[in-house]
Amino acid sequence: MTSIPLSRPPIDDEIKQAVLAAIDSGHYILGPQCRALEAELAAHAGTGHAVLTSSATAGLWLIFRALEVKPGAEILVPAHTAFPTVEAICAAEGTPVFVDVDDWYTLDVKDAASKVTPRTVGMVPVHLYGQPADLPAVQDLAARYGLWVLEDCAQAQGASWGPRRVGTFGRAAAFSFYPSKNLPALGDGGAVLTSDDAIAARCRQLRDHGRLSKDVHAEVGFNLRFNELQAAALRVLLRRLDAMNDRRRALAARYAEGLAGLPLTLPAEREHARHVFHLYVVRTARRQELAAFLRARGIATGIHYPVPTHRQPAVERFHPPALPRTERLVEEILSLPMSANHTEAEIDAVVAAVRDFFAR
Ligand SMILES: Cc1ncc(COP(=O)(O)O)c(C=O)c1O
Repeated sequence: MTSIPLSRPPIDDEIKQAVLAAIDSGHYILGPQCRALEAELAAHAGTGHAVLTSSATAGLWLIFRALEVKPGAEILVPAHTAFPTVEAICAAEGTPVFVDVDDWYTLDVKDAASKVTPRTVGMVPVHLYGQPADLPAVQDLAARYGLWVLEDCAQAQGASWGPRRVGTFGRAAAFSFYPSKNLPALGDGGAVLTSDDAIAARCRQLRDHGRLSKDVHAEVGFNLRFNELQAAALRVLLRRLDAMNDRRRALAARYAEGLAGLPLTLPAEREHARHVFHLYVVRTARRQELAAFLRARGIATGIHYPVPTHRQPAVERFHPPALPRTERLVEEILSLPMSANHTEAEIDAVVAAVRDFFAR
């Protein structure tokens, strides 16, 4: 029987050699590989600074700290995101204000505008599934109310809006190197990108125990550092990132062609945006049935995410409002296999199975 995973990481001899060389170098934490990767990440995105950290969750928290979020400060966030986006707001003692989705499953800027209060300090657009949020509209709203923007780019490394990469539209941005992400490490990892010198310096300090120098701690930070073995692997993969994203886009186009005409909503790319298909998410009212049918054929699927963040028990104390579009969406979404390392034959097998399901 075929077995098609949801995602397949790109590990090969070049990456293994880079990791072995890092092991032999005698440097393990925030050494030359990390410094080189930081410079390369900033150059790739077209921004001033990259600060490596232990995960995107850590990156988000560092940025909230650097932005001096005060307890109870309200931060607009789409409810339809991975829980860590909201978790980082809570960990920084901010108050998440949950916003509904637009037609592209990203932050609905009109709904966000209706939720601005005198306590609102910023917003966190999430480029979900690899699709940029409506960045010009986000920037307009931020300018109108004097809010900062923190882009959650965990699922969208290498995506762009017009000629600019995501991660360069707000005060700062957080990226993830979780093994299924577009730029995957062999474990957890993340980065803060920013053109703001002060935010970069503060994040650097906070990720290393608030250190001013070896023995002097200017403030209470935490240990959120990154390591040399992962950085060595990521440097190889960063050189391939655009090609890997092209590959994801080609496979998405193959899905779109193969699945056309079925009673299934396919992902659409918004005008001006370059979607990098971290996930290929279709929509059907028969989601559970379709997932079971594919599972019986050895095809893995996922749901990103079945419980929206505003309905998580962990945030009950914020009394989140109903968000009808999000609540309906999460009942119907299904992620099909997608990564730069899937073959055309695998995508064709998924297409054939989905067509068989609807032909029954
Ligand atoms: C949109 C989004 N934000 C943040 C995160 C957190 O990333 P990490 O696992 O690197 O902490 C994720 C991870 O799944 C994510 O998808």
